[in-house]
This record gives sequence, structure tokens and C-alpha cells, in this order.
Amino acid sequence: MYKNMVNTTSLLPEDLAIQSYTSSNYWQIQARLRSLIDNYIAVEKLHERLQDLSTQFTHSQARPWKAIDWQGVNRNQIIGITPEIFLSILIGAMDTEAPIRGYTQTSRQYLEKLHPQMARVVGGTVNQDGELQEIGLWEKEERQHTPTLMKVYTQLTGEKITPKHRTVRGYLPSEFSLAEWKTVLVEAYASHSATPYPYS
Ligand SMILES: [Fe+2]
Repeated sequence: MYKNMVNTTSLLPEDLAIQSYTSSNYWQIQARLRSLIDNYIAVEKLHERLQDLSTQFTHSQARPWKAIDWQGVNRNQIIGITPEIFLSILIGAMDTEAPIRGYTQTSRQYLEKLHPQMARVVGGTVNQDGELQEIGLWEKEERQHTPTLMKVYTQLTGEKITPKHRTVRGYLPSEFSLAEWKTVLVEAYASHSATPYPYS
């Protein structure tokens, strides 16, 4: 009995939004969202990331990942939504993230005139024939996401999954103004997650 209790306690998932409720009302959801925003995208946190960005321009360095306990990933850690909904979000994310090379190269082309240093961080460098010479730091990070999401999916379902093929929108000169690009890139780098480009 005691042993069971200890096991149950140690298996309780960490809830990143502090308190969870079995069936949340509007105000509880608001409170949970507010705590997530305060803890993960607070001004200080974004400021830290933006400070880091200027260092990355001169000394590009990938952020190391902590080791992932794959065996520890299980359905009990899904809180507040059904596993089916969580899995469909997972599939959407892996499909979106999969064509990362296309995203980084389209972005590099847009950025080359606007901000050459950022272009290199995002899309690396190419030679005169347009062949990739160096992979961008951002791509090095981002290309790890789809395989990771696929592994999470497999761990949760016991099934293998292949991302759907999505076509990345190519470079179209003057599609975005400098002001629009500044906004999307600052948001994207600061949150370090979603891809900052509309795909076709
Ligand atoms: Fe990503």
C-alpha cells in the first residue's frame, strides 16, 4: 500500500500552469494562461533572449538540450485535454515543422538585404551558385523539433508516424515590408518555437 502511494506520487506529472482542475471554467483557464505567460514569456525572459541574439550574431552557438527521458513519456502527463486532441496538435506541429530547410532558405533570401547577420543565423550561407555552405544556427535547432515530436507521438501511441509533405512558399521579392519582418522575426526568435513564415 505504502509502496503504491509512493509510486503514484512520483508519477504525478508536473503541471506547467501551476494549479490544474478536473474541469476548468473560464476564470480558471484565464488564471492558468496568465501563469504560463508570466513564467515563460515574461518581458525579462524575452529580454534575455534578445540580449542573447546579439551574441549569436558574432559567436553562433546552439543551445544544448537536456536529456529526454523517453520511457517516462506517457498519456498521464496530458493534462486538461483529451489524448486525442493532444495527439492531433502534435501531428499539426510536426507537419508544420517538417520542411525546415525550405523555411530557412526562403527566410535567408528575405533577410539578406534587410539584416545580413540575421540571414546567416537563420539560413546559413550559400555560395554564388546558391549551394548551401553552412547551415544556420536556427535551422540546427529547428530541425530537431519534428523528429522529437515524432518520438513523443510514438511513445504515446506505440505507432510510427510520418509527417505530411507541405510545400514551403518560395522567395517573392517585396512581399513583406521591413517593419512586418521585424515584428515576425523578433516574436519568432524570442519564443524560439513557431516558424515565422506563412506556408502555402
Ligand atoms: Fe520548431
